[in-house]
Amino acid sequence: MSINISLGTLALRNPTILASGVLGTTASSLIRVYKSGAGAVVSKSISIKPNEGYKTPVIVDLGYGYINSMGLPNPGLDEMIAEFKIVKSRKVKLFGSIFASDIDEFKYLASKLTDYVDALELNLSCPTKIDVGLEMGKIPWMVEEVTREVCNTSKVPIIVKLPPLVTLINDLALAAEDGGASAVTLTNTAKAMKIDVFSKKPILQGVYGGLSGKALKPISLACVFEAYKVLSIPIIGCGGIYSWEDALEYILAGAKAIQIGSAIATEGLGIFKKICFGIKKYLKENSINKIDDLVGIAHRR
Ligand code: DHB
Repeated sequence: MSINISLGTLALRNPTILASGVLGTTASSLIRVYKSGAGAVVSKSISIKPNEGYKTPVIVDLGYGYINSMGLPNPGLDEMIAEFKIVKSRKVKLFGSIFASDIDEFKYLASKLTDYVDALELNLSCPTKIDVGLEMGKIPWMVEEVTREVCNTSKVPIIVKLPPLVTLINDLALAAEDGGASAVTLTNTAKAMKIDVFSKKPILQGVYGGLSGKALKPISLACVFEAYKVLSIPIIGCGGIYSWEDALEYILAGAKAIQIGSAIATEGLGIFKKICFGIKKYLKENSINKIDDLVGIAHRR
């Protein structure tokens, strides 16, 4: 039973993908995750210059999810290209995530990275840094424009990662499609915060963080369900996937692939194989040939 999938021209050996932000800044960790069974891996978001990020505390464990506020730390473009060269020499399916302050910076990053990755994921939706480039994900015409410009610069497919808490996810997803995106990732984390009642101050250095994990799942799932109604390009589901059942919910809602991030903290890297095994078993037991036959089935009446 095969569970390989395609996202436009991208062929993946299975639908599980390492989400950006987890184990994504070194060649060794990206290779390790791919070897543990992921169908592809996404790097931590990269900027042109190295970025230190926020001071601790940078994460709060709520029990029902995490709020993290790293401040997009990364070693910068040149260092990441060196890491990506190693990753690609090991035949890993690699997506490079990028963030920037404006369209020109996004284009620059894309033009420099396009030879070292299989796809680029535009982070237009980080909730922890106030920056025009990261707010673009909330405004449809900006999503369309940045996507179009980056697509014109890149030889590899462009994936657009959108935020969850927006008025009309359909309009944003369609804007990405109209701009030429090959897929959208739904969704990034949700802007969130935590206040310490004793110090009477926000706990996180960056004040706002991104809510991920279990609490995010029903919200992101609804975004996938909604966007599937209007999109022609594939959706990558992301948010609180801990089990094959979670993954399958996203697939039934309309996702062709899914990303896993927070769950790695408690489930370990075995989660990729575990989810693939569960999906394979489900397909077999229900006499379904391929994952494609399940995508969006929850929309049927
Ligand atoms: C950070 C970036 C993200 O895209 C996100 O969803 C959460 C946190 C960060 O680095 O702060």
